[in-house]
Amino acid sequence: MIIVPETSFSYNAHFSLSLPSTTIDTFPTFLIGPNGSGKTTLLKILGGFFKVSPPVKVKWQGTLRETRPIYFAYMPAKPTYDPNFTVRNYLMLSGNKRQLETIAKELELTKWLGRRMGTLSSGWLQRVFIARILLQDTPYVLMDEPTSFLDPEARKDLIESLSRHPEKHFVISSHDLSFLSSFGKFVIGLRDGNVVFRGSTIDFFERGIEDVFVTGYIM
Ligand SMILES: Nc1ncnc2c1ncn2[C@@H]1O[C@H](COP(=O)(O)OP(=O)(O)O)[C@@H](O)[C@H]1O
Ligand SMILES: [Mg+2]
Repeated sequence: MIIVPETSFSYNAHFSLSLPSTTIDTFPTFLIGPNGSGKTTLLKILGGFFKVSPPVKVKWQGTLRETRPIYFAYMPAKPTYDPNFTVRNYLMLSGNKRQLETIAKELELTKWLGRRMGTLSSGWLQRVFIARILLQDTPYVLMDEPTSFLDPEARKDLIESLSRHPEKHFVISSHDLSFLSSFGKFVIGLRDGNVVFRGSTIDFFERGIEDVFVTGYIM
């Protein structure tokens, strides 16, 4: 469970994110909205990378605590990596050697473990990033636009891989509505730094989608 207080956050005079008090206790939760609406900013606030006052709280080992990055596995929109690292060495950075082979197998990465990161296509790289996130030993997983480099087939594989981990609480920033419809349960809809929708995925497609995406009247 993640509890967001009524608060706001701004980088400067140009952008401010206003948050109503919200409890996230249905996962996967999707942060949905157009470019620049504040999805990545909210993801970083949930993870405690950016502080707000009063603080975001997270249920951790049975008690509510002030959020901290240590409670989360975080996959940025553009992960950085050393192209000379092998896939195996990159995955070892997660600190979880015990499950490395299992997760690699799940994502069909076994045959790539000895390959250098710099030689992989963007789709395979994305799988490696996802493997690393799943290896991190924390129940909360924040992912920023994980389908951005995936074709429909690879997106299907991603959903299958994530579905094998019902013990993980995913919060996913995305503007991929097809990904949302097949994997999301709860939606926070953002537009211009405002939360314009909160509800189930079904409700989002019935009544939230226009508030989030439609830009005005067509005359
Ligand atoms: N570090 C930053 N400093 C100043 N402005 C930023 C910074 N990061 C993002 N922004 C601005 O905040 C707004 C929201 O950005 P972001 O949360 O990345 O949106 P989204 O992920 O929905 O595309 C954008 O206008 C963006 O330019
Ligand atoms: Mg973003």
